[in-house]
Amino acid sequence: MMKPAIIAHGGAGDVPLDLAKKRLDGVIEAVSYAWDLLISGDSALNAVVEAVRIMEDNPWLNAGRGSSLNADGYVEMDALVMDGTTLKAGAVAAVRRIRNPILLARLVMERTNHILLVGEGAEKFAQSQGMKLVDPEELIVPYQREKWEKAKMTSGASIDTVGAVALDFEGNIAVAVSTGGLFMKLPGRVGDTPIIGAGGYADSNIGGACATGLGEAAMRVLLSKKIVDLLEMGYDPQTAARMGIEYMEKRTNGSCGVIVLDKFGRVGFYKNTRMLLYAYKTKDKFDAQIYI
Ligand code: GLY
Repeated sequence: MMKPAIIAHGGAGDVPLDLAKKRLDGVIEAVSYAWDLLISGDSALNAVVEAVRIMEDNPWLNAGRGSSLNADGYVEMDALVMDGTTLKAGAVAAVRRIRNPILLARLVMERTNHILLVGEGAEKFAQSQGMKLVDPEELIVPYQREKWEKAKMTSGASIDTVGAVALDFEGNIAVAVSTGGLFMKLPGRVGDTPIIGAGGYADSNIGGACATGLGEAAMRVLLSKKIVDLLEMGYDPQTAARMGIEYMEKRTNGSCGVIVLDKFGRVGFYKNTRMLLYAYKTKDKFDAQIYI
C-alpha cells in the first residue's frame, strides 16, 4: 500500500507546447506542495484544496486568476471539493468576484448544510465568512483577454480545468477541482466541475477521480462517479480511467481527460482529447507529463 499519494492535472485543452510547459510547471508546483503537506501528516482534504488553490493562482491555468472568458468577455468560475470519508461536499458555480473559488467551495462544505451555491448568493455567503470580493477585472490575464479578442473574429472552444485527488496516511481520500469553464461559453453556463460525480468524486473506501474536458459530456455520464464505480468493481485505476473515457466517448461523442487514485495509492489517467497535463507523486514515484 502506497500512502500518501497525490495526483493533479492542469487541463485537457489542446494548447501550444510552450503554454503546455508553463501549465505543467504549475501542476508540478501544486503536487510538490501538496506532497509536502501529506508527508508531514496533513489531511488529503488540505492537500487537494492547497494544490488547487496554487493552480488557481497560476495565471496560465484556466481556474481562478487566468480563467477563460465567456462569450460576453468576463470570467465565471466553478469549483468543487469532496471529502471521501464523510462524503461531504461543497461547490460554487458561476462566481465572478472570488479570487480562489476552491476556498469558497470548502466553506460551503464546512459551514453550511448545502452543497452548491451559485452566483450572487455564493458571493454574499463569501462576504459573510470574511472573504474579500475582488474586482472581476483582476481575474483576467492578458493572455486570456487577447485570446477572447481574437476568437470574436474566428471561433474557438477550449476545455481546461484544474484538479487533484489525494490519499493521506490515515487512508482518507479527497478530491478538489476548479475551472473558469469552457472558453466562450454562454453567460450562466455551468459545466461538470461543481457537480458531484461529474467533475469529481471521492470515496475513501474505494478511490477518487476528477475530470477535465467538455463538461457537457462528463455530466451526461457522471464520468467521475462512473470511474469510482469501476474501481469498486475491481478494476485498477488505469483500466477504470480508460473504460470511463471510452464509455463517455461512445455515449456522448465528447472529449475529456481524467485522473484517478485508488485507496491503495495506485494512480490512473486517460483522455480522448489530444493533450492532458498531469503530475503525480507516490512513495515510489514522481511523474509529470504533457500526455499527447
Ligand atoms: N470541464 C470544465 C467545463 O466544462 O466547464
